[in-house]
Amino acid sequence: MPRTSLKSILKKKKKRKITCLTAYTTSIAKIIDNYVDIILVGDSLGTAIYGMKNTQSVTLDMMMRHGKAVYDSSKNAYIIIDMPFQTYRNKREALSNAKKLLSFSKCQSVKLETDYKNLDIIKHLHKNGITVISHIGVTPQKFKDFNKIRSVGVNNKEKNNLLNLAKKLEKAGSSMIVLECMKENIAKKITNNLKIPTIGIGASPKCDGQVLVINDILNTKDLNKQPRFVKSYINLNKIIEKAVKNYSDEVKNKKFPKIKNTY
Ligand code: KIV
Repeated sequence: MPRTSLKSILKKKKKRKITCLTAYTTSIAKIIDNYVDIILVGDSLGTAIYGMKNTQSVTLDMMMRHGKAVYDSSKNAYIIIDMPFQTYRNKREALSNAKKLLSFSKCQSVKLETDYKNLDIIKHLHKNGITVISHIGVTPQKFKDFNKIRSVGVNNKEKNNLLNLAKKLEKAGSSMIVLECMKENIAKKITNNLKIPTIGIGASPKCDGQVLVINDILNTKDLNKQPRFVKSYINLNKIIEKAVKNYSDEVKNKKFPKIKNTY
């Protein structure tokens, strides 16, 4: 079966919810490839796997390598890759970096955190044959301190701004829009007013699809305090800790390796 195309993702709007998770590595990409429509190689890899405090230090080179690992180890899902902070400050820079990212990783589209200031960049990428996904609402690249993140779309001015921005991004050539951390009524309004799908994270069930960070659903951080939009389906941190403790105890107590593990 050929890899999922953009066309088949777009057709799901109003038919069935679109599923998306992030992946950064081969092992995870291989597993989730069988269960989600879209894999996002998110710049959340900065915090999720590099231990950074925010996403501002993620580089194009990191994204290229993780993107290639994810693409090469998946066969089915549609793959979106994030353009990292300050790699799309003007049209020329954005196009050159988007081309580098896509040609090296083979991912199918790029995602940019968008506002009214970079509408022309979305238009330029689209005009030059790049499939672009926009990301509005809370845009994490603007934050050095994630504790300062609050949901948006609270008052009418913010709601109108978000709706108008979403409409302009669709017109500029965005193929999908990620809506992050916003009130349900504005996410619903945007979703109903656009022909392209909306993918929500902390933006209510009214979006056309949902995305979460893989490390959050697996709880690899063992955090008690998660943002309210996160649901952890397992505490992988505890499971890994148990395995590592068993291994360490067995080595110390000379129970591992046994004869069967020895040449
Ligand atoms: O980088 C990322 O994982 C994202 C999601 C939070 C949508 O952009």
